[in-house]
Amino acid sequence: MNIDGIPTRTLRAHPERRAIDIIDQTRLPHALHWLRVATLAEAAHAIRAMQVRGAPLIGATAAYGLAIALGQRSDDAWLREAVLTLWETRPTAVNLHWALTRMDRIVAPLPPAEREAAAWQAATQIADEDVAQNLAIGRHGLELLRQLPRRQGSVLNVMTHCNAGWLATVDGGTALAPVYAAHDAGLPVHVWVSETRPRNQGLLTAWELAQHGVPHTLIADNAAGILMREGRVDAVIVGADRIAANGDVANKVGTYLKALACADNGLPFYVAAPRSTIDFDLPEGKDIEIEARDGDEFRRVHGLDARGVPSALQQLPAAEAVANPAFDVTPARLVSAILTERGRCAASHAGLRQLYPEVAGD
Ligand code: MRU
Repeated sequence: MNIDGIPTRTLRAHPERRAIDIIDQTRLPHALHWLRVATLAEAAHAIRAMQVRGAPLIGATAAYGLAIALGQRSDDAWLREAVLTLWETRPTAVNLHWALTRMDRIVAPLPPAEREAAAWQAATQIADEDVAQNLAIGRHGLELLRQLPRRQGSVLNVMTHCNAGWLATVDGGTALAPVYAAHDAGLPVHVWVSETRPRNQGLLTAWELAQHGVPHTLIADNAAGILMREGRVDAVIVGADRIAANGDVANKVGTYLKALACADNGLPFYVAAPRSTIDFDLPEGKDIEIEARDGDEFRRVHGLDARGVPSALQQLPAAEAVANPAFDVTPARLVSAILTERGRCAASHAGLRQLYPEVAGD
């Protein structure tokens, strides 16, 4: 995608320097700041602190993080420690575990001296695949968007939640891939962007849509229902952090409420995600581990002060009890379809198996 007209990806790999550069997403949308990651500890911190976030990008960062770690040391004990350290950074997005499992299967059987080079190659393959898959999601999604009835004249009004755009991936985005494809194809599209409290990933969505010139409007999370009832929404598209084998979808907290509101208003609710987000080993969504994040994310509001300096405001007393689940699970029955790099399917065991017949256990 483009930043100020310049094509870029969210990750830049420098194998020769044993490092990657990432966009520090904790500083967006106020500042675009690239950050060098050159140790296992820095890679793990970047994921944990959400300097990188979004399921596919977390997976790719973990893959490169392992390559970086193997440049520090490459013996068996260190390999185990590095995989475990990265594995435990965040629990919900399965792409993280998918990427580490794939990396481990490639590097573990190799002699230690060969591991680092193989890891850089495998991580790059994961990153490149992500980009290609997101482009394919965009192509399939465009076909879908073209067919949708538009309630307000010629413009298609899509609502999204959180950030499942190119910032959440290596490039291209998942939920936003069809939106970008539609915009580029000349289909008039407008996006309702929900703020996504408490981490405000909606601001990232608004920022990247603005970079691409896609018309959009930010809304408070709770405004979704009234907009649907007023006929100002044609469809909701979200990404996913983990899709269970039966089509249940874990995504950013608040997704479930949007799906419920869609059902009440007769609106389609789509989930866009690549293969790496589908956990065929998990029969149902109820068993997905939901990350509980620090209550301070809720108690403190981040922004710029009057001088334009990043600052945090204490919104709640430090002792105030808060619950901060980062994700929720939308049952498959509320999902109109799942959109992947292979096309569209029903959110069901049968639907997913039809798209991925090669998955073991059929
Ligand atoms: O906590 P985050 O910001 O990592 O959560 C991100 C989401 O929930 C996204 O919607 C999901 O990962 C899909 S990203 C293409």
